[in-house]
Amino acid sequence: MKDLLKFLTCGNVDDGKSTLIGHMLYDAKLLYTDQKRALEMDSRLKGRGGSLDYSLLLDGLMAEREQGITIDVAYRYFTTDARSFIVADGPGHEEYTRNMAVGAAFADLAVILVDVAKGVKRQTRRHIRICNLMGIRHFVFAINKMDQVHYDKTHFEEIAEELGKIIANFQAESACCIPVSATEGDNITSPSERMGWYSGKPLLTYLEEVDVKKAAGEEAGFVMPVQRVCRPNSEYRGFQGQIESGSICVSDEITVLPKGEKAHVKSIYRGDASVEKAEKGCPVSISLDREVDVSRGCVLVKDFTGMVSDMFSARLLWMDDEPLIPGKNYLVKLGTKTVPGAVMSVKYKIDINDGNHVPADVIYKNEIADCQISLSEKIVMNKFSQCEIMGEFILTDRVTNMTSACGVIKHDLRRADNLVWQKTDVTRQMRAAQKGQKPMTLWFTGLSGSGKSALANALEKRLLAMGNHTMLLDGDNVRMGLCRNLGFTHQDRIENIRRVAEVAKLMNDAGLLVLTAFISPYAQDRENARNIIGEDFVEIYVSTPMEVCEQRDVKGLYAKARRGEIPNFTGVTSAYEPPANPEIQVDTSQCSMEEAVEQILNYLELRK
Ligand code: ADX
Repeated sequence: MKDLLKFLTCGNVDDGKSTLIGHMLYDAKLLYTDQKRALEMDSRLKGRGGSLDYSLLLDGLMAEREQGITIDVAYRYFTTDARSFIVADGPGHEEYTRNMAVGAAFADLAVILVDVAKGVKRQTRRHIRICNLMGIRHFVFAINKMDQVHYDKTHFEEIAEELGKIIANFQAESACCIPVSATEGDNITSPSERMGWYSGKPLLTYLEEVDVKKAAGEEAGFVMPVQRVCRPNSEYRGFQGQIESGSICVSDEITVLPKGEKAHVKSIYRGDASVEKAEKGCPVSISLDREVDVSRGCVLVKDFTGMVSDMFSARLLWMDDEPLIPGKNYLVKLGTKTVPGAVMSVKYKIDINDGNHVPADVIYKNEIADCQISLSEKIVMNKFSQCEIMGEFILTDRVTNMTSACGVIKHDLRRADNLVWQKTDVTRQMRAAQKGQKPMTLWFTGLSGSGKSALANALEKRLLAMGNHTMLLDGDNVRMGLCRNLGFTHQDRIENIRRVAEVAKLMNDAGLLVLTAFISPYAQDRENARNIIGEDFVEIYVSTPMEVCEQRDVKGLYAKARRGEIPNFTGVTSAYEPPANPEIQVDTSQCSMEEAVEQILNYLELRK
């Protein structure tokens, strides 16, 4: 099999990216006759005064883009005598960062176009940074449009020097600058006579010869994320996936993560063929010598250098129109595993231009930032520098399903391992039994003025009179103490609700019946509260209509908000997301306080 090079082209539309690849395919005689004829015809109609316009070859893609059809990245395959190539062509403009990152994640090398007349732009720095983030270690700078500067050596050398300085700040394993003219075909497939001063290789030759194999010693041992468990008959149980690192032989001992069970390899299949050994890049089916609990998302490893953790620090490329909000819950997909998780904190963002660390709380679209991420369960991961597949991940929005970010793992946060849950002799059950009650959290949610506090207060009085041990956590009160450092931005409200949920859980552990009265406007945060508190969470939606709440305006806050004196006021300038399936719903404009209390007590009676 011929050696394969996967590369990515980066550049603006005007930089001549399409022309460059088009010209390369044409000169290397890699076009089919019909493609060639179509190109000659099209060029006659639209081209540059009769000469061929090589960019037209790739313009199908452009046209689709113009129509607004989303093409993430176009992949083109071609083969020369020396090597096979897959080139990922993604749009270079800032608004297409997402696509570029996808292309870069796939490629081993980036060909970055620089217009010799314009020099190194912010865009060029951005392209290098994103490629580097996504693991590209080999760079070729095609200094294009040399014809426009009369093939002048000095122009080229100035740019090459500047690029040399920039690339020195990255962990590039190879980097080279080639002066080309994509339209005229200089230094594309053969050395240009017009640039006798350039002694290097033309672009295609360079791409045919460059060595992009990873330096030895960086590998993470044998790693195979299980994609599928295959059970064609009762005799055979095979774990299928692609080997992402290292190699494996029959009879080797492997470990199944995250649980850590061990077994020996009984057989290895590549397609239909039984083999003794398989290595990185092979799709295989592996069977083991004993029954082990393995499912999709598990990882088979040997000599593993990674970790099983639920907290890690990462570098992210934010791609969502909405900014990154610490605390907000996303789905984190890593390898074949997807789990809920949140960005706990942003450490800093990275200046695209100079790589400096800039303090930041919020990260906007197309920005790169270092942050700490926490997952809902421990999963298998690796530093990106050791094993790309186990060290890269995406965050998706749980509501829109859009990819919000892609990122790479820098290291796990040992903190997660250094904490050990202490078992206490007196348990939650014993504390509850002593009080003769079943602990619960009655979570009231609704607009300001909907009657949450009044209702929770009336209910607590009744519960107390019935002999229960209770505690009422009320929004305004908690915000004067535990949460006095929080305001009403989305981020602060997430943290407010998280703290209250944790406190309610502790009080449940103490055996108490807890009532909470917080607007808690976001469905996701209430869901988080439910996850923290567990099955004893009862959501009570106080659904009094907005008009009634505003009319009541007990605290005069609606009037103030309408006058623009309170920013982010729920119902006025900030959203309230009503619960879809609350355990109880009460509208205090439709019933008396006593009736509402009765309704809740009836529900609690039934749950006993
Ligand atoms: S929550 O959104 O984080 O759940 P919480 O229930 O703690 O809010 O606090 C709401 C109380 O804060 C309201 O009853 C009101 O008295 C007061 N408040 C002050 N500013 C705002 C605001 N911008 N939006 C909503 N409530 C506000």
